[in-house]
Amino acid sequence: MRNFLIAGNWKMNCGISATTELLNGIKEITTSLPKGVDGLVCPPSISLHAAANVLQGIEGLSLGAQNVHFEDNGAYTGEISTQMLNEIGCEYVILGHSERREYFGETDKIVNAKVLKSLDDDLKIVICVGESLKERKADEHKLRVRKQIQAALTAVEEKDAAKVVIAYEPIWAIGTGETATPDQAQEMHKMIRSVLEGVFSQKKAEKIRILYGGSMKPHNAEELLQQPDVDGGLIGGASLKADSFTEIIDIADQLSS
Ligand code: PGA
Repeated sequence: MRNFLIAGNWKMNCGISATTELLNGIKEITTSLPKGVDGLVCPPSISLHAAANVLQGIEGLSLGAQNVHFEDNGAYTGEISTQMLNEIGCEYVILGHSERREYFGETDKIVNAKVLKSLDDDLKIVICVGESLKERKADEHKLRVRKQIQAALTAVEEKDAAKVVIAYEPIWAIGTGETATPDQAQEMHKMIRSVLEGVFSQKKAEKIRILYGGSMKPHNAEELLQQPDVDGGLIGGASLKADSFTEIIDIADQLSS
């Protein structure tokens, strides 16, 4: 019922030439993604335009940004607006990644402002949530993630539910080579879906994709994507190589057929 979404978060990697090279590498492997899988790449903002050009030749692979500002325009040095993303052909934007929360002071309130602005300007959003190791050890992980989702989705209208994707990314698993076990991921994803039922409705929540993120690689993708509430991945390191990214797409394809 829910198409897998395999998303690459390139973070601060790949300028224009590396972006073109990586996407051409993907294009050499496939020019059309399998039907049951939607693909997404999120290069740094400076490379979005170059990426948009190459992506025209890869069916089923969309373009996303890693961040956006919540105002229309004006005196916000260094920031980029939703309209600029629209103009460049971005369909998605990642919001509230733990690295933005940790290093750039993004609070739940700021994430919510970005969510509302992005939806208003017709962008699809990937909202990142996840607990620290300390929170997990203190058994506060569910509470933390529930609060992050409720805050991020404050004042979001039910009509916009179809534009929402959630990425559960336990901070302790990001870039560490450590992953949540399939059981841990499923437990959290199920909980997240129940929170979404409360925010929207059961019918809408059933359709929202919940991605797992945190050291997803070709060798562990299958066991994670097999979980009933894991609808894809938000992939950092393994999305920077054409072969490992497309391998994960293939794994999702096999599971969806
Ligand atoms: P990772 O990053 O796959 O390198 O752990 C995931 C993310 O931060 O989105």
